Amino acid sequence: MADTQKTFSPTADFSAQANINDQSVYAEAAADPQAWWANQAQTLLDWTKPWDTVCEWNPPHAKWFVGGQLNVAANCLDRHLTGARRNKAALIFEGEPGDTRVLTYWDLHREVCKLSNVLLSLNIVKGDRVTIYLPTAPEAVISMLACARIGAVHTVVFGGFSADSLRERISDSQSKLLITADGGWRRGNKVTLKDTADAALEGETTIEKVIVVNRTDDAKHVHMKQGRDFWWHRLMEEADIKHEALPMDAEDPLYILYTSGSTGKPKGILHTSGGYLTGVAATTKYIFDIKDSDVYWCTADVGWVTGHSYVVYGPLANGATVFLYEGAPDWPQRDRFWSLIEKYGVTIMYTAPTAIRAFMKWGTEWPAKHDLSTLRLLGSVGEPINPEAWLWYNTHIGGGKCPIVDTWWQTETGAIMISPLPGLSATKPASASRPFPGIAAEVVDEAGNPLPHGTDQTGILVLTQPWPSMLRTLWRDDERYKSVYWSKFADKGYYFPGDGARRDEEGDYWLLGRVDDIMLVAGHNISTMEVESALVDHPAVAEAAVIGRTHEIKGQAIAAFVTLKDGVGHTSELAGQLKDHVAKKIGAISRPDDILFSAELPKTRSGKIMRRLLRDIAEGRALGDTSTLADPSVVAGLKEKYSEES
Ligand code: WT7
Repeated sequence: MADTQKTFSPTADFSAQANINDQSVYAEAAADPQAWWANQAQTLLDWTKPWDTVCEWNPPHAKWFVGGQLNVAANCLDRHLTGARRNKAALIFEGEPGDTRVLTYWDLHREVCKLSNVLLSLNIVKGDRVTIYLPTAPEAVISMLACARIGAVHTVVFGGFSADSLRERISDSQSKLLITADGGWRRGNKVTLKDTADAALEGETTIEKVIVVNRTDDAKHVHMKQGRDFWWHRLMEEADIKHEALPMDAEDPLYILYTSGSTGKPKGILHTSGGYLTGVAATTKYIFDIKDSDVYWCTADVGWVTGHSYVVYGPLANGATVFLYEGAPDWPQRDRFWSLIEKYGVTIMYTAPTAIRAFMKWGTEWPAKHDLSTLRLLGSVGEPINPEAWLWYNTHIGGGKCPIVDTWWQTETGAIMISPLPGLSATKPASASRPFPGIAAEVVDEAGNPLPHGTDQTGILVLTQPWPSMLRTLWRDDERYKSVYWSKFADKGYYFPGDGARRDEEGDYWLLGRVDDIMLVAGHNISTMEVESALVDHPAVAEAAVIGRTHEIKGQAIAAFVTLKDGVGHTSELAGQLKDHVAKKIGAISRPDDILFSAELPKTRSGKIMRRLLRDIAEGRALGDTSTLADPSVVAGLKEKYSEES
């Protein structure tokens, strides 16, 4: 049997110590999901006032723990100060230049209290929006928690976004305050965040005050606008260290996070307090098996939802030690991540398939140079992980002994929805296993009818019941909320995430990419993901992106954009071999029609391949919006090459 078809069970030692190691949790949660979630909210969090109603569901609007009160920041900090956690590291930070900082729970609490007082002194009150545009550094975490502490609604904008994107998010959220930095570090260069922020604030803006963190010691190049801009360290020097967290209603907004829509302007996903924290605290505890002794590292930038839920709120609610790294994995060398794991004794690592495929391309010699034996659990998120990447991660990073949790979720879901439980599940490379306890999912056809397990047909994933950490609406656009997520299966009341999926004979879920990434080739459903996996399985291939382009006879034809491993030559023989390879792995119907070699693939700054642009290229159209690309020149180069070669 090929390794890709094997199942991998946790070791007996791992299961014995796991936070959940009894299968009965699934049945218990399914029998009464609301009671199960209420029990999580009760046991994992501290409430200043108990709730009256667990869930009010007026489709498509949900409220959880109605009438209850808590403070999210106090749950992440204050309640850890009375026992042994008081002096334990909450954050261990390493900047790209190698500077380090450790903040204990006590330290982090002090900083958050001080910043809360600073925010109040700048006239920020409960309900006001605060935009945070910072590198991944302790100040970002402190800012988020200070907002939560006073009830201000944060909206974090990823530091790689442009001035226009920042302006758009500030204006949609109507933020009063911006927290930014002089800059951040990326591959040895200073990213001049303050200059970008200044450009975003030109002309009319809702921003009244700006707090500027000194991160790159670039004060003399930074323009501070009199009366508007204030240095963080100056404000913090004078701030009172005492601050009582304000109790919030469970349904008070915690944050807005913008995510790109398939059309039009970004969507402002709104998350609230009690249900969100319950969802992230429970999933962190049971999926990452968090213990007090762990050093937990989620490599996501705080600018994405993964950073919100699994760098900040989930781990800190559990009193965990979080490792935070500012920079790139290949700076100054391609073993930076592995050297960090060795240096800090990281025990849990959570990263993305796109990173794993980059590591594969760079070669095994980089991780092999380091002692990674402290690792005990690995996670993956962001896109379907191809079995080859899963197996590589398992062998070369996990040493064959770490359970891998492939976690499916979205900005909108707030917390992980589908994942193995590491002490229980026999995992299959590239299957996300099954819904988390208390989550109800189904795979349906276009009419909303469940598909049988084990069918070859690609179905549509739906979530069939409300869950505590679900988005409550789109900020200032409830109509769009209803239409994007709830109109497709309105009669059934299903939430539509936009992902294709199937379930195997055992009921395990296989996520197959966005629904629009499914190709219809001569009447057959073919997942772009499946063809990509087959390509990446070939020893010459580093990464592949596959799209369906319009084809006169077959409906769609398969176009593959391929990057090769270092040192492999681009030849037409190789293109032929790759087509044969795919045909052999999946079937002749999946044989790519075009193969285009490219040094790089067009990706968004969060690492997602922009298939829409590849489709534009393959279909010879003018390129659509390229503003969210990390490097727009990649796509221009590809377009030229495509028209020459095909
Ligand atoms: C979309 C959500 C959730 C945090 C990061 C991305 C895809 C995410 C997986 C996975 C297959 C996945 C889905 C989803 N996705 N994780 N483990 N397997 N697909 O958040 O930017 O809101 O993107 O990412 O297509 O809908 P996001």
